[in-house]
Amino acid sequence: MSREFIPAAKPIIGDEERAAVDAVMASGMVVQGPQVAAFEEEFSAQVVAGAHAVAVNSGTSAQHLATLACDLKAGGAVPEVIVPSFTFAATGNSVAITGAKPVFADIDPVTFTLDPASVEAAITDNTVAIEVVHLYGLPASMDAILEIAARHHLAVFEDCAQAHGAAINGKPVGTFGAWGSFSFYPTKNMTTLEGGMVTTGDAELARRVRLLRNQGMEKQYANELVGLNNRMTDVAAAVGRVQLKKLDGWTETRRANAAALDAGLAAVPGVLTPAVPEATGTSTTSTRFAWRGPPPPSATPPRVCCVRSGRSAPASTTRSPTTAWSPWPPTPQASSCRTPSWWRASACPCQCTPPCRRRTWTGLSRP
Ligand SMILES: Cc1ncc(COP(=O)(O)O)c(C=O)c1O
Repeated sequence: MSREFIPAAKPIIGDEERAAVDAVMASGMVVQGPQVAAFEEEFSAQVVAGAHAVAVNSGTSAQHLATLACDLKAGGAVPEVIVPSFTFAATGNSVAITGAKPVFADIDPVTFTLDPASVEAAITDNTVAIEVVHLYGLPASMDAILEIAARHHLAVFEDCAQAHGAAINGKPVGTFGAWGSFSFYPTKNMTTLEGGMVTTGDAELARRVRLLRNQGMEKQYANELVGLNNRMTDVAAAVGRVQLKKLDGWTETRRANAAALDAGLAAVPGVLTPAVPEATGTSTTSTRFAWRGPPPPSATPPRVCCVRSGRSAPASTTRSPTTAWSPWPPTPQASSCRTPSWWRASACPCQCTPPCRRRTWTGLSRP
């Protein structure tokens, strides 16, 4: 029996990209040059509302150089950066390689992005920054994270590797914190084959990243600091410029595909599809459609969606690993949910008023 390999994501590279590569090859100017400069300008205007954009050779390099450029310090101690425990290795690696310490905080099991309560619990005297990951194209809970960061005087960094074009109330990811990093790896929202982009509203930080990507030089042989070679080539940038023109259309298609999958899976017992916040104006790019199946039978009790304040646990309750006490079977409740108000209403088992807006496992055997 032959087995067909089904790729998780296949880059869409067409004739226009090939023509763009040919043109750069024919020009003889293949390393970082005018194509990179034009790509940075176009990416800045289209994706991050005019923030500075500095192109590099990978998403990992983007977060590495941006972290280095921040020159993190925690008195004499090792500076700590809080990162999600569920992400790609580059998020933690790019912190560790600078000499800082990645400290893992938990994710919200519904959104897969950083859980603000877990972040708060991970803060120590040496914490200097929180790095969010807008995983699968869904923006992290930026209101809550920014509030925590402001209260503790921490910087916020954004790993936007999977979220080109995602936004909250029209404000694009990559513009909320000190910097954002994007990846152009072939399985991402758009590709340059390999490549990355640092975005920032801080002109001096952008300049430092430009220096770090090119041996500490802005002008040839005028070395201002110790740097690396993390430059993007003009070949890659030319591909990126073509892909950028297709990005918005692809994002619409991804969203439509996600909606179709969501609708199709709605009737399947036990399937938890990606939650898409609505009321805050959060828009996901649906880069991945990561759905969860039910826990194995031994993993009962079921997870119940809502968390209520001020109630003690009745005898019939079960404790869920991620939420507070919840009764089962559900009884109508008059108190209001403490869950974020912006989740779309669906499948609330608690019949509460107002309805709980968080999704839950369905189709499990009930204790
Ligand atoms: C969340 C996340 N961060 C960082 C990266 C690193 O990007 P790159 O592979 O371009 O170095 C990736 C890419 O896989 C990613 O998914």
